[in-house]
Amino acid sequence: MSNCSFICLHGKTALITGAAGAIGTATANNLANQGADLILVDIREKELKEISEKIKSTYSNTKVDTICCDLSKEEEVKKLFSKAIEKANNNKIDILVNNAGLFKDDDWNTGTNESYFHLAMKINFEAQFILCQAACKHMSQNNYGRIVNVASIGAYCGGIKYCSYCASKSAILGLTKSLALEYAKQGITLNCVAPGIIDTPMINILSPEAKKHFENTIPVGRLGKPQDIANAITFLCSKESEYITGSVMHVNGGMVMY
Ligand SMILES: NC(=O)c1ccc[n+]([C@@H]2O[C@H](COP(=O)([O-])OP(=O)(O)OC[C@H]3O[C@@H](n4cnc5c(N)ncnc54)[C@H](O)[C@@H]3O)[C@@H](O)[C@H]2O)c1
Repeated sequence: MSNCSFICLHGKTALITGAAGAIGTATANNLANQGADLILVDIREKELKEISEKIKSTYSNTKVDTICCDLSKEEEVKKLFSKAIEKANNNKIDILVNNAGLFKDDDWNTGTNESYFHLAMKINFEAQFILCQAACKHMSQNNYGRIVNVASIGAYCGGIKYCSYCASKSAILGLTKSLALEYAKQGITLNCVAPGIIDTPMINILSPEAKKHFENTIPVGRLGKPQDIANAITFLCSKESEYITGSVMHVNGGMVMY
């Protein structure tokens, strides 16, 4: 049984990318807990199915579908939204959470990781771009929609050897703000969540020293948890956030303040 409180998502269907990941799974659980039906997307089919089964058994009234998709493949991404519409209740999607991402360092001196630039742009930005366009078109027919794009603190602060990742995350900000303006009168909000350093498998590429440094210097005294990000996303997916659009919610324990 779901547990509706301030935020109620009964009757809404949410499409979440990167749903097999840490933040994606926490977000899927949150949205199901508030009553939403889910369409979960990831490249990792086995993990996606496992998460879907777990959510179905926890929230027995929730309809959960999955779509396995490689977001680095433009042709797959272009078909993704219409596939999701076919699976959705009444063929209607109300919420899109663009959460999938790939974080790697690039070494411009040796060029060993040069191709990551293209991959980062495809997965972290172009897929979001294509899905946002499709979602806005679809949601404008219903005069309602919530789109949350997961950016990063890196879009603001940059990072040595993280040029490709940070550039791809910065691009999301411009996309979100522009579409927010374009669709403001059609009941659709578009916002970003910019996580700080969140304790998920994604940050395993950081050295133990770097993690310790962050733990010691983050004002609230700890790394972020996937749930911290999921909570921010959930609010921006709600009807109650209707006057917030084109904004960035920084969820970073006070690391940087804007
Ligand atoms: N963890 C952090 O510190 C942090 C900080 C800032 C931003 N973020 C962002 O938060 C989001 C979620 O990250 P996370 O920490 O949960 O990481 P995660 O690695 O646990 O999840 C990322 C998910 O994206 C999926 N994915 C990657 N490439 C894909 C592809 N080609 N097609 C389909 N799916 C693909 C992965 O399979 C994975 O399930 C990402 O966009 C990330 O950039 C994370």
